Amino acid sequence: MIVFQDMYLNEVNLSFSELPFSSDPKHVWVICRYKNKWLLTDHSERGLEFPGGKVEVGETADEAAIREVKEETGGVVSVLTYIGQYKVIGKGKTIIKNIYFAEVSELVKQEDYLETNGPVLLSILPKNIDNDNRYSFIMKDAVLFHSIEYVTKRLSNFC
Ligand code: GTP
Repeated sequence: MIVFQDMYLNEVNLSFSELPFSSDPKHVWVICRYKNKWLLTDHSERGLEFPGGKVEVGETADEAAIREVKEETGGVVSVLTYIGQYKVIGKGKTIIKNIYFAEVSELVKQEDYLETNGPVLLSILPKNIDNDNRYSFIMKDAVLFHSIEYVTKRLSNFC
């Protein structure tokens, strides 16, 4: 397990083992690739981030991941791979989030992208995201670094 603090100084526990903190997590975060690019969404308040959100009642975390990618980017997930989980121990509450890698086969234009401004494609993720105010706080802690490292070095389906 990897332990660090996020930008709000909350403790974060991160692990790439099978559902280490909860078998029934209520949040998902999805690192997406489309045509050899990173697929993000532009959240209207938080800024650029990989899509994700809360698991709805009656839905599995995997289903939530596929739904959130579609709602926030229009992306159709062709392959969804669970890669890990993290726990943020906040002042008020603790949240547990599944991390996925998704291959997106198609971008379908949506009527609206809910609380986001829709898809953003990037060839590279900049090195200084921490100091870049275009990016969301959820991209500004070590979850991003370790997850990208996991995806690029350990997944055979990464391209
Ligand atoms: P509701 O009021 O129940 O809708 O929740 P919320 O809007 O406060 O947000 P949520 O339940 O998604 O998250 C609660 C808190 O957890 C946030 O205020 C953040 O501090 C923290 N949090 C959520 N997601 C992440 C994340 O991906 N990374 C980090 N570091 N913190 C997160």
